[in-house]
Amino acid sequence: MIQIAPSILAADFLHLEKDIQLINRCGDVIHLDVMDGTLVPNISFGFSVIDQVAKIATAPMDAHLMVVHPERWFEKLAKDGVQMCSFHWEAAGRLTSTFIERLHKLGLKAGVAINPDIPVTKLYPYIGKADYFLVMSVFAGFGGQKFIYESLDRVAALKAEIERRGAKALIEIDGGVYGENVRAVEEAGVDLAVAGSAVFGAPDPAAAIKALRGA
Ligand code: DX5
Ligand code: ZN
Repeated sequence: MIQIAPSILAADFLHLEKDIQLINRCGDVIHLDVMDGTLVPNISFGFSVIDQVAKIATAPMDAHLMVVHPERWFEKLAKDGVQMCSFHWEAAGRLTSTFIERLHKLGLKAGVAINPDIPVTKLYPYIGKADYFLVMSVFAGFGGQKFIYESLDRVAALKAEIERRGAKALIEIDGGVYGENVRAVEEAGVDLAVAGSAVFGAPDPAAAIKALRGA
């Protein structure tokens, strides 16, 4: 069954504790979108928020670093107890393997993320190294965008290549995931779907998570 990672980007920041407790109770993973206004055209939140979330998180935390120099924050994330951390291939380039190793040394699961305009083949060298791949299904930077359907072919190609090599890696998808596309997302081979608006924009977020899971 597909797992759901609600993104707190769409949460109620005036009552964040309520939304974190909801993810603890009903979600699989807490997705933390960190944006620096340089790699992506928006700024979200940093450690002033993550440190607080960490105090009450019982579900695993998944940091999605949409920042240049993601490696500057690995150690601090590890100290906060974040279990999964993805950085963008666009930010890491030739240092991608080095960053994966650094995350592993800190005891974190390492993810490599790419935007929709980057060929998915750019991820192939890290099969067998990264624990997961984050395939963006919208351009990183904002919640509430429309799902890009070509992402499904990219996921299927990546999944096939992982299997062809007999490797193990999870595939996470991020952006525009809703009830209307989540079954196709699951079918394409996604293990973990991020959902912001579909969860926190719903009248009953707990029911929305359940419906996305398909259970
Ligand atoms: C976009 C973020 C996403 C975003 C998803 O840059 O990485 O995690 O919050 O939000 P929705 O589900 O609203 O597209
Ligand atoms: Zn994200």
